[in-house]
Amino acid sequence: MSPPSRGLPRRAFVRSAVAIGGASALAACMDREGEEVADLPQASVAPEDLPERQHAWNDHVLEDEHGNALAPEHNVLLCLDYLGDRPTDAERGEVEAALTTLERAYERGSDGLAFTVGYSPAYFDRFDGDLPGSVHLPDPEPLASIEDPALDAYDALVHLASDHGSVVLAAEEALTGERASLNGLDVEGSFDGIFEVAERRTGFVGEGLPADEQEGVRGIPDSEPVPEDAPMFMGFKSGFRKNQASEDRVTIDAGPFAGGTTTHLSRIRLHLEQWYEQDSRDQRVAKMFCPAHADEGRVEGAGHDLGDSSELGDCPAHATDDARNRGVVGHAQKAARAREDDEPRILRRDFDSTDGGEAAVHFLAHQRAVSEFVETRRAMTGADLARDSAVGSRTNNGILQYLTVANRANYLVPPRRHRSLPSPAPE
Ligand code: HEM
Repeated sequence: MSPPSRGLPRRAFVRSAVAIGGASALAACMDREGEEVADLPQASVAPEDLPERQHAWNDHVLEDEHGNALAPEHNVLLCLDYLGDRPTDAERGEVEAALTTLERAYERGSDGLAFTVGYSPAYFDRFDGDLPGSVHLPDPEPLASIEDPALDAYDALVHLASDHGSVVLAAEEALTGERASLNGLDVEGSFDGIFEVAERRTGFVGEGLPADEQEGVRGIPDSEPVPEDAPMFMGFKSGFRKNQASEDRVTIDAGPFAGGTTTHLSRIRLHLEQWYEQDSRDQRVAKMFCPAHADEGRVEGAGHDLGDSSELGDCPAHATDDARNRGVVGHAQKAARAREDDEPRILRRDFDSTDGGEAAVHFLAHQRAVSEFVETRRAMTGADLARDSAVGSRTNNGILQYLTVANRANYLVPPRRHRSLPSPAPE
């Protein structure tokens, strides 16, 4: 692919470079980000002093004025195939050196680099033993009668995230053995000959970016309706502090993988013609949050007025009544029925995408056990609500009718000590 066009505004240029990837996109991106990345500090914390949790990002990303974590803007997902038969100690050393290089080169977080590496059930299948009972990592499967997703069988997934496009691109180039130095450090170790990048997915999140990216994208009407203040294509803010599981809640708490987590990754296509061109603003608020939010005008713009919570109150408790009496239920209202002790069980780190010219969400969530994602998704699907009510299995059933789940995958994200080609029963 050719490098992004010089005529694009800076942010769109950087985003486009991340989507393209490779050495020339990186060079163009570094040139465009200029001083912003030229003086980025190397890590101030030695790798051995970093937390065991790969997913411990919240203390290292920016926050808005309400204390909500702001996800890093630029994201790359590397879906990897392992090239060997069984991992050797030499390969483990090589992968560990490559990952440690990333940690030495940048501070963890939005202004540097945040990343995780996870392994799929297909990866663990090559070993004789099973994963311990403290890890729940089933093969991916369709999770609703209305979907027919491709079930990914890649061996591993690397998620790279940063507010600087050239940081994710440079980290990717270092991992794949295409760069000898990274932010002034010699690169040690690489995935070359061990992993092959079988698929590359990219995306972005943050106020203004979806509006900038909407032109000519399938799934978004030509009227370019995505508002400037929206961090995501559907027009609303998501990931309020009080509507997310904490990092503690999603951490595996026993066994050899204690300190790790799991990732569920789906690719979800968006179809926003009716959403923006026929549904009214009140309908959008009712379907995304809850009918009560629309009645009481609780959501201004993208929802920045909501502060640190989507203020669901007793909305989940009256989901069945709303389905029967109002003929509409909200997405957040339904999903919140899966809470435990009034705390959500999944930590959402999803972001939008225009890969392949279509509007999509890479829905990435961490949870202690994949079953907790499955139960949350079941609550969101709301098949129970669609029975005996005016709500259909898709229609007026939250946001289901605007989404098609194209892919599903599950990964174990080990604690850092076992992150390099682990066996199912590491020492
Ligand atoms: C793909 C498009 C999606 C969009 C645009 C979206 C957007 C939103 C928004 C705006 C909220 C309310 C604000 C907040 O609490 O952060 C929300 C809440 C939530 N969503 Fe989604 N969502 C999507 C898909 C999903 C999926 C696939 C799941 C998986 C089950 C999910 C699970 C949840 C949960 C658990 C909550 C919080 C419920 C609570 O407060 O307990 N969402 N989402």
